Amino acid sequence: MRVTVFGTGYVGLVQGTILADVGHEVVCVDVDAEKIARLEQGIIPIYEPGLEGLVKENHAAGRLRFTTDAAMAVAHGDIQFIAVGTPPDEDGSADLQYVLKVAETIAEHMAAHRIIVDKSTVPVGTADKVRKRVSEVIEARAKAGEVSAELTFDVVSNPEFLKEGSAVADCQKPDRIIIGTEDAHTVEVMRELYAPFSRQHEKIIVMDVKSAELTKYAANCMLATKISFMNEIANLAERLGADIEAVRQGIGSDPRIGYHFIYPGVGYGGSCFPKDVQALIRTADGIDFDAKVLKAVEARNAEQKTTLFAKIRDHFEGELAGKTFAVWGLSFKPNTDDMREAPSRVLMEALWEAGARVQAYDPEAMEETQRLYGHRDELTLCGTKEAALKGADALVIVTEWQSFRAPDFELIKAQLSQPVLFDGRNMFEPARMAKKGFTYYSVGRLP
Ligand code: UGA
Repeated sequence: MRVTVFGTGYVGLVQGTILADVGHEVVCVDVDAEKIARLEQGIIPIYEPGLEGLVKENHAAGRLRFTTDAAMAVAHGDIQFIAVGTPPDEDGSADLQYVLKVAETIAEHMAAHRIIVDKSTVPVGTADKVRKRVSEVIEARAKAGEVSAELTFDVVSNPEFLKEGSAVADCQKPDRIIIGTEDAHTVEVMRELYAPFSRQHEKIIVMDVKSAELTKYAANCMLATKISFMNEIANLAERLGADIEAVRQGIGSDPRIGYHFIYPGVGYGGSCFPKDVQALIRTADGIDFDAKVLKAVEARNAEQKTTLFAKIRDHFEGELAGKTFAVWGLSFKPNTDDMREAPSRVLMEALWEAGARVQAYDPEAMEETQRLYGHRDELTLCGTKEAALKGADALVIVTEWQSFRAPDFELIKAQLSQPVLFDGRNMFEPARMAKKGFTYYSVGRLP
């Protein structure tokens, strides 16, 4: 099948590549000429395991093409994906200008029936807005005699559920494929498009457009709620003298609760949860509905991002000026270089504000840290996790990278001025750490 994907960010590039990989003819289009030129050479703008090889392979096979030529792209695909960004407005609601701009572009160039697919995470009601915008443009073109007034199209909501760091695998083996449309022809076409991904088990769930749009937000908000809930219980456990890790196993064993997404930590970050929770709150506000649970989820998360700093401040009795901290893990989670809404940023900024220095290391996010904070004298970027320790007053672990799981504790002790470790991800056993001679702070467990 012939498919066009507008937007070569995370969602667009991964989805386009995976569709090409099963044999569809995919054209990816972006307004950023430099990005397109780099993609043509096989240079991938993001770090995502497995993606580079697949892009190169499918590009070489001619199934995956990159262009800035919107007219050609609209002529190519019977199915036109919109996978451009929906950044938050100042008030936290999703900014739809890029989505609507693409809708306009498709309408300006289309000469035959097109299925327009909203792949970006967009508020409930966006498909209606896209539909309206496309209709307006086609009407104007029909009046000018460019196209027939009978030119038809459909707008489908088909939200993406991929996770950064496992985007390729998530896209190849989706838990579900949500198709939001009431048009029987569209359902048939979308079923054919996704048939390769729905062979062993039926993955496709068809519903109306608004339910599909809300499904995406409900999924992310439910996951964010689980995390904020666990962080709240962890804070309670700490104060009550209970151990959150025991509690986590105790409740996770109930299949209705489950073990997934109940790890306490330093708060959720990334480009999705914070943005989507806020956007759904704004959507609710917009119809005078008070989304009480979501507001609490957001407030708990904002506070959780400050808890590591509070522990550090309390340990050093407020005397942080002139101290140096080794920080391991800067990306918002492992296996990505993404630092959007990362808890490490809140921590480092608080440390700097208090007059402390940071020696930071991350396996993938060093370039991004340089881009964000390279101008700051109070930051030293270190080439290895060991180098970050040299002469520091304490080690702080913010992101649970695999390579931090079994560090050389003797070396850590030798390099730090005092053996103090603040662990935002409960990577180690408190009793073992005490035996090794560390003052060890974690989340939801007694020091
Ligand atoms: C999230 C969802 O998991 C995807 O299903 C969704 O498609 C995606 O957003 C999106 O809307 O595009 P992602 O942002 O890549 O994916 O990251 P997650 O792996 O879900 O992690 C989010 C945050 O939650 C991280 O900061 C992580 O450290 C934190 N987290 C996760 C916890 O603090 N505890 C947990 O138990 C799990």
